[in-house]
Amino acid sequence: MDKAALLEDLQQEIENSYHILPLATKKEDLVHGEGDASAKIMLIGEAPGKDEAIQRRPFVGRSGKLLRKTLTEVGLKPEKVFISNIVKVRPPENRDPTPEEIEAYRPFLNKEIEILQPEIIVTLGRFSMGKFLPDVKISQVHGHLHKVNWEGKNIFILPMYHPAAALYSGKTKISFLADFQKIEKILDWIGQQKQTKKLKGNIEEILF
Ligand code: URA
Repeated sequence: MDKAALLEDLQQEIENSYHILPLATKKEDLVHGEGDASAKIMLIGEAPGKDEAIQRRPFVGRSGKLLRKTLTEVGLKPEKVFISNIVKVRPPENRDPTPEEIEAYRPFLNKEIEILQPEIIVTLGRFSMGKFLPDVKISQVHGHLHKVNWEGKNIFILPMYHPAAALYSGKTKISFLADFQKIEKILDWIGQQKQTKKLKGNIEEILF
């Protein structure tokens, strides 16, 4: 089965489980990941907001518009990446997701990652960063590539500020764009590392 078909099956599986998932009262509350199943870049946010819940698409509200505009500005087509969230239903009043909610949705996000096998995961905000890099501060590591041993595999994580934070502060917005501008160079570097098979070891912070 190809990746797109596996993702469709996964979405069906999530919908069939809605009754055991926190925050979901019906299947239609779920906002699935979307994008190119063969994407090299996967972006993971926090949870859907009001606009996302209405349209049933991730990152389509104000912060989503900034995210998609920034991707375009750095030469990445939003439809060529894959965009998902830690929690797949909007928390009431857009409050932070609880550890229990994150845990309940975790197996499904993990399966998404397993299917996609992206070259790099861009985490948006501290909740998705915390999934891979639990002991760091976003203000200190945003825009730094991290090689992480996760579930027995070496993967590359690029932590970024959440676009909502960039909307809130002009200074953060400048960093947000500067971090996105590094992606192409980072992908080239990862490609070279793969060829020379230099991918052993545990957590490592690589500065660009
Ligand atoms: N914020 C997120 O973290 N995810 C979305 O899908 C929308 C806003």
